[in-house]
Amino acid sequence: MSSLHRRNQQLWMEDVSLQELAVEHSTPCYVYSKRGIEANFLAYEQGLAEQKHLVCFAVKANSNIAVLQILARLGAGFDIVSIGELERVILAGGSADKIVFSGVGKTAAEMCRALEVGIRCFNVESHAELLLLNETAGAMGCVAPISLRVNPDVDPLTHPYISTGLKENKFGIDIAEAEQVYQLAATLKNLRIVGIDCHIGSQITEIDPFVEALEHLLDTVDKLGAQGIKLQHVDVGGGLGVRYQDEQPPKVAAYLSALLARFRQRSETLVLEPGRSITADAGCLITQVQYIKTNGGKHFAMVDAGMNDLLRPALYEAWMDIQPLLNDLRAPTRTYDVVGPVCETGDFLGQDRSLSIESGDFLCVYSAGAYGFTMSSNYNSRPRAAEIVISGAESYVVRARETIQDLTRGEQLLPEERSS
Ligand code: LLP
Repeated sequence: MSSLHRRNQQLWMEDVSLQELAVEHSTPCYVYSKRGIEANFLAYEQGLAEQKHLVCFAVKANSNIAVLQILARLGAGFDIVSIGELERVILAGGSADKIVFSGVGKTAAEMCRALEVGIRCFNVESHAELLLLNETAGAMGCVAPISLRVNPDVDPLTHPYISTGLKENKFGIDIAEAEQVYQLAATLKNLRIVGIDCHIGSQITEIDPFVEALEHLLDTVDKLGAQGIKLQHVDVGGGLGVRYQDEQPPKVAAYLSALLARFRQRSETLVLEPGRSITADAGCLITQVQYIKTNGGKHFAMVDAGMNDLLRPALYEAWMDIQPLLNDLRAPTRTYDVVGPVCETGDFLGQDRSLSIESGDFLCVYSAGAYGFTMSSNYNSRPRAAEIVISGAESYVVRARETIQDLTRGEQLLPEERSS
């Protein structure tokens, strides 16, 4: 459900005019709807009401602590991939025993901290990681709860950069070898086997790859059961797509009922790790047109947000809708490339967009609530954008815009050079 609507030619999020918000806080800024995030999360909870389950929000999609707090208050679990994400969840009031730790390159230090706070499960991605975790837990005198991330070799039919469940990807353990690795795990004293997991990719708009992956997982669970290895949960990862342009992703309810149809009568807890489908359409990026320019017959709208603020269009050629906040059509409608100020040809937010705009106008980039701010950087020494949460008629700055001083924090000049 998009959290945006038009009233009197203006774009609103909940009961806040984004035009007024942009004037007050300046741009670029990310804006998130509390109600939108809650509704998206609750769609998962409702769809799973009949099933023992845990919905672990994938923190990489949006890791602002206020956003995590909204979810933690609803009882969400969290899927993390680093110690930084772990500390964010704790700051936001999330419970450690609802955290699953994914990630291909966990370090021993990260393992220690996760063991210290008592997370629910490590999603182990390789044989070598299994051994390091056993050793680390042993040194701490504790037992690590584990799941093996298996690679079910399913084609998620999505962009190659965000497809993760194929045999040739770096992620997970080949499902054909999983039983053997479980057998080994069962012999390691400082590990406790609790589950199995997979994640086949992101922005998936078909149900079938998910069902296929789940079937492969359940097959393995049953084989393990026959060998005396009993699992408590089955984690199917995240990946459900959203509509950016004309995609027709399944609704959360339809996706979940397809999973539940395969899962009914089972005793395990069903775990999911959605990211994008919880926060993407509950957020947007607001930017201002600095200049209108025409080069070689092509029209450019130069805006104040660049690829450092929103990388998806440049990195994946992702199409994200861009509309003016004030839709009064007073400027001529022309076809624009909407480009940022970064010194890279690939720095665009959108190409060939039909817009009626002039300099000073504010634009909204839709569905930027996932993989937006979290992928932003300081490239070109640009301070990162502010983040704002809207709740009803209230707005809260949940991350101040970075200052110029922030940019050089931690940097040091070299000592004076001695003249010879
Ligand atoms: N679990 C694991 C282990 C993951 O690697 C991911 C995403 C998720 C869950 C959440 O997937 P989601 O429900 O959000 O699709 N930056 C890219 C997306 C990268 C996704 C990486 N993994 C983009 O902007 O499209």
